[in-house]
Amino acid sequence: MNLTDRVVVITGGAGGIGSALARRFAAEGAAAVVVADLDADAARAVADGVGPVAHAAALDVTDEEQVRALVADTERRYGRIDLFCANAGVTTSGGVEVDDAGWDRAWRVNVLSHVYAARAVLPAMLARGGGYLLHTCSAAGVLTAVGDAAYTTTKHAAVGFAEWLSVTYRDQGLRVSALCPQGVDTPMLAEGLAAGHLGARVIAASGAVLSPDQVADSVIVGLAEERFLILPHPEVAAYALRRAEDPDGWQAGLRKLVRRLRA
Ligand SMILES: NC(=O)c1ccc[n+]([C@@H]2O[C@H](COP(=O)([O-])OP(=O)(O)OC[C@H]3O[C@@H](n4cnc5c(N)ncnc54)[C@H](O)[C@@H]3O)[C@@H](O)[C@H]2O)c1
Repeated sequence: MNLTDRVVVITGGAGGIGSALARRFAAEGAAAVVVADLDADAARAVADGVGPVAHAAALDVTDEEQVRALVADTERRYGRIDLFCANAGVTTSGGVEVDDAGWDRAWRVNVLSHVYAARAVLPAMLARGGGYLLHTCSAAGVLTAVGDAAYTTTKHAAVGFAEWLSVTYRDQGLRVSALCPQGVDTPMLAEGLAAGHLGARVIAASGAVLSPDQVADSVIVGLAEERFLILPHPEVAAYALRRAEDPDGWQAGLRKLVRRLRA
């Protein structure tokens, strides 16, 4: 898929990766870019910066009615949605001690919102014989996010759901990509580093921290090639292979890195 004349919705569009996608999609010639975020003011600022093809929408992705309404409004304005980017995400920066409300929020934002988006866009996309879903998951969805149990668990679930969609609907024209970056220089990572969270320190020590614009570059290539896994950090493929071939050795290596960072 290329972006020329495409109608695109991006959730979490006011954030680091979402706003970079919005700018890049507009630069690639998208017909409309809907920047949807819980933070309506920030979404408006991003849309204003992107220009006339963009407009902002207030959206809580954990509220199915709001997701349905946004999809219906976009289809009414522009006639269709070509690409829906389920990109909003949250971390917990904790382990098993995180309370149920924290686990529930991670589940709702990182996984259930992808289900709500698919339910809302699939009927029209399948009726038209195609469409594209880009789910921002994480390298945590194919590896492990040290220091964040709920993030690891829900991002694995997000990759699983994206794969299920792709296997189930690809023959009906639906294309699905799971975007799985490692460290990206956004408020999410910056706040973790500022707070000294172990997980953020492990990410920073594990490889390059990419700019959101570099992630957007990878997304453009991944969408053009219609790849299921989009890996802005190519080493994540090698890590995933090592993990699959030798889970015990892989985990021993991670524990060694954690011990070094804690020392
Ligand atoms: N930054 C990284 O290192 C990194 C690495 C891998 C994956 N990711 C994933 O990338 C995605 C984007 O994260 P980012 O790094 O740009 O972080 P970010 O914090 O800059 O952006 C996240 C955005 O999601 C929005 N959001 C949160 N809850 C929402 C809700 N209920 N409804 C609507 N919007 C909501 C926030 O307001 C924010 O604008 C997330 O899914 C994240 O898990 C980030």
